[in-house]
Amino acid sequence: MSTGHTPVLLQETLRLLSPAPGEVFLDGTAGAGGHAEEIALRIGPDGILVCADGDASMLALAAERLRAFPCARLVHADFSDLESLREAADGRRFDGMLLDLGISSVQLDDPSRGFSFREDGPLDMRRNQESGTPAARDILRRANEKELADIFFRFGEERFSRRIARAIAESRRKEPVERTMQLANLVKRSIPRKAWPRDIHPATRVFQALRIAVNDELGSLAAFLDGFAQHLAEGGRTAVISFHSLEDRLVKTAFREQSAGGKELLTVLTRRPVVPGAEETMTNPRARSAKLRAARRNG
Ligand SMILES: C[S@@+](CC[C@H](N)C(=O)[O-])C[C@H]1O[C@@H](n2cnc3c(N)ncnc32)[C@H](O)[C@@H]1O
Repeated sequence: MSTGHTPVLLQETLRLLSPAPGEVFLDGTAGAGGHAEEIALRIGPDGILVCADGDASMLALAAERLRAFPCARLVHADFSDLESLREAADGRRFDGMLLDLGISSVQLDDPSRGFSFREDGPLDMRRNQESGTPAARDILRRANEKELADIFFRFGEERFSRRIARAIAESRRKEPVERTMQLANLVKRSIPRKAWPRDIHPATRVFQALRIAVNDELGSLAAFLDGFAQHLAEGGRTAVISFHSLEDRLVKTAFREQSAGGKELLTVLTRRPVVPGAEETMTNPRARSAKLRAARRNG
């Protein structure tokens, strides 16, 4: 990721976070360890890099990538668990924090996780499959029609949310909706052919919405945004890359509230969100909706 054309978003993230030798950093969404590696290279062996992921299999990938970096400390945790993450940094406050929200292509491409409508698999979608929390198929079984429609509309901005919810309610009377292809086909049949989106699969929004609901993604982000500034050192930077308008709104509001109105705990470093370059969205369609915002803690 660091060689050749460095994508605009990665370049800007690193510029805004400006990791320096010996600093203490948090990567709250370690994933496959791409960003973490870039940070580790810059803070060097005298720094501390706490890498968290709620998905144990992703953390194992990050651990593999970061094996050669003595600064890296891997923690299986939700990024909203700021106390534990601070403990992993020996109680020190962070000079930098990064969240790169959502899921990685590794998770998306594994049919057994149930995130994708491209191959058949169980409708699971849990980041942490050991957590005992309800999987997507449980929500599809238990939620009533209105609750389902609300999930699809709120988290997926799906115009046909009611029709899709009705189709699910009717279908599950005959058999439970438990497989990704079953759901993808139900969604396709519920949206009139002429209204299918041109640039994405017709089930994209419903799958995104379910994933956000299953993992309470907005709840974790809100909890992080509530507390992160207390764990930043003076001059410490935080960057958040989001992929959904609701996430971006939470970040924008939290940064603004903590930088004004007599609090002035933070200085916002991005008046407008940074978005990827045209070339980047061509080679990496996932980047299409990405927005990067950053803030710095005042003294
Ligand atoms: C987009 S990927 C991050 C990719 C990473 N920046 C890289 O360079 O490889 C998001 C990762 O964050 C994890 N994740 C998402 N929400 C989380 C949360 N609330 N707590 C901990 N990990 C989370 C996902 O499991 C996934 O591995």
